[in-house]
Amino acid sequence: MLRGKHILIGVTGGIAAYKVCYLVRELVKGGADVKVVMTEAATKFVTPLTFSALSGHDTVSDLWTSNQSTNSEIGTRHIDLANWCDLFVIAPASANTIAKIASGQSDNLLTVLALATTRPLVLAPAMDADMFINPVTQKNLATLKERGCFVIPPAEGEHASGLRGPGRFPDIDPIVHFIEDVLNKVTQDLKGKKILVTAGPTYEAIDPVRFVGNRSSGKMGFAIANAAALRGATVTLVAGPVHLETPRNVKRVDVESAKHMYDAVMEHVKKADAVIMAAAVADYAPVSPAKQKIKKQAKQETLELSLASTPDILASLGEKKKGTTLVGFALETENGLANAKEKLKKKNLDLIVLNSLSDEGAGFESDTNVVTIIDKKGKSEKLPTLPKFDVANEILDRVKKLL
Ligand code: CTP
Repeated sequence: MLRGKHILIGVTGGIAAYKVCYLVRELVKGGADVKVVMTEAATKFVTPLTFSALSGHDTVSDLWTSNQSTNSEIGTRHIDLANWCDLFVIAPASANTIAKIASGQSDNLLTVLALATTRPLVLAPAMDADMFINPVTQKNLATLKERGCFVIPPAEGEHASGLRGPGRFPDIDPIVHFIEDVLNKVTQDLKGKKILVTAGPTYEAIDPVRFVGNRSSGKMGFAIANAAALRGATVTLVAGPVHLETPRNVKRVDVESAKHMYDAVMEHVKKADAVIMAAAVADYAPVSPAKQKIKKQAKQETLELSLASTPDILASLGEKKKGTTLVGFALETENGLANAKEKLKKKNLDLIVLNSLSDEGAGFESDTNVVTIIDKKGKSEKLPTLPKFDVANEILDRVKKLL
């Protein structure tokens, strides 16, 4: 897996920097071409010369000094290195660098590269236990995971400071395996495939300020779009009203109502190899939304709304299906498997992903999910609690086999 791969290692300031020498050596031994960038703080722990000797390339730590190995103009070094790598591994990733990357700061070569590269980013956090468990660090890591960064879980144990707890730099072998797994996942195995994903709720207007809709954060659909783009697919994401960042290399089309979503999907489905409908589309919409805000009437205890069914987007796609792989989602509160299987059949789907509401680690705003994936033959696989990004890759692994 490592042979011929371009791996850029970013070393930040922390005592674990010395362990990264062994990591570089293992990666080179495995056949990878490794280049190292360091922050200024990292150079206080290990000299750039050590990494140059181990990698066989000059080690760079600033944007301004010229050298030979990057073989590039100083002004474009960040872009050249960002494009050169197949993977950017930041190890050890200090709390400070994690915070900077999470907020998009780019005040040194390493953080500029993290911002500039479109290649997968792997972080190996290493810091004192108290810094690691600090909610700010945890929040920053959660943000980065949500954006599709891969985070190597740190080990637990005694730190250089004498403190015990999580945040230790893991052993080299598990890190190398982690890197191999990521390379495996992002081998651009979906290159040339066009995938249409929907995400989020739809809002059906009652009047200019109120709506009917489903609860949905959109996180699952965005994770699928992100993972598919990282794997090389051309991705269009039709998103209902959610406040989430658009994943890199994804074309986003914002919609509000089920009717808007229907129109956007029908417009973009023509060229799609697969459609993954993760959106929680409202099944009913007010028949005639009021033009002005509906005022509360003094003596009126109840208000009746007349609703009409919205177009079933997936069922329409299923009706005229010609070779497009169709994946639906089902959220059930009872008889989950039976209901999901019936939906798969009724809507002529290839796969359906049954979401759980009751399992721990699942739910609307959660960053993890617990799903069961059911195929056309009725075979069902319940996955363990996983980050939504991992669930996305599990779904895509199965979609890939059907394309
Ligand atoms: N779906 C759709 N258009 C709709 C409603 C749902 O395309 N108007 C899609 C969803 O995106 C999801 C799948 O159909 O992928 C199943 O949605 P769900 O709401 O669970 O199913 P319904 O058929 O609406 O059944 P019910 O609400 O009765 O459970």
